[in-house]
Amino acid sequence: MVFGVILAGGVGSRMGNMEKPKQFLEIGNKPIIIHTIEKFYANSRFEKLIVLCPSQWVNHTRNMIRRYLNDTERIVVTEGGSTRNETIMNSIRYIEKEYGLEDDTVIVTHDSVRPFVTYRILEDNIESALQYDACDTVIPATDTIVESNSHSIISNIPDRSIMYQGQTPQSFKAKKLKELYEGLTEEEKEILTDACKIFVMKGQEVHLVEGEVFNIKITYPYDLRVAETLIKGEEK
Ligand code: CTP
Repeated sequence: MVFGVILAGGVGSRMGNMEKPKQFLEIGNKPIIIHTIEKFYANSRFEKLIVLCPSQWVNHTRNMIRRYLNDTERIVVTEGGSTRNETIMNSIRYIEKEYGLEDDTVIVTHDSVRPFVTYRILEDNIESALQYDACDTVIPATDTIVESNSHSIISNIPDRSIMYQGQTPQSFKAKKLKELYEGLTEEEKEILTDACKIFVMKGQEVHLVEGEVFNIKITYPYDLRVAETLIKGEEK
């Protein structure tokens, strides 16, 4: 079974002082999170979409989904966790409780604030995760990446031709991810903020899926303005 996992458990602190987390802000007259859910909803290979948000926003999110998508069957809303990885783990706990975890249960995890994900990216993620255990959506790095341990002097400039920028979705065999995550120490859990890194650190392969330059993450107020422009292009 394949599940879509929409990560909306964050508060969006870099967006500034907002009265609501950024995933609930509107672009193109619709909440960002609804645009994202619609992209997943259009793909019938997802058995269920699991939307995870802060506990005080669960009811609001349910009402919003009812209003915009009129769905009470294929989408469930539940509580996120204290970190992004904990939010992912909550989705796995939900699947385990409701369906049981099979070896080939796949989760396609995606930032709720990346509403420009495409059908093709979702398909490639599903295929890759079914074939392998884990995949990450990336685009080739356009800017040269400069490393600085001291934050003032360059320590390294890696070869740009082998550098990529990570996007989402990141997709996994859920059982494998759970096993690897549970094998981490509390200290490791603190450091491993990226779910794919859990696989990499444990010596497991993560395959690359081609993303899109426009599959941006809305992080800062500037990104909202870019997103507003991009959404106009989608509506044409
Ligand atoms: N996320 C989540 N659970 C958390 C933290 C983050 O599901 N405990 C989600 C966010 O809601 C977002 C995605 O992970 O959709 C990407 O994270 P980021 O852009 O860092 O979101 P925030 O944590 O909300 O933003 P900030 O770091 O500015 O506070």
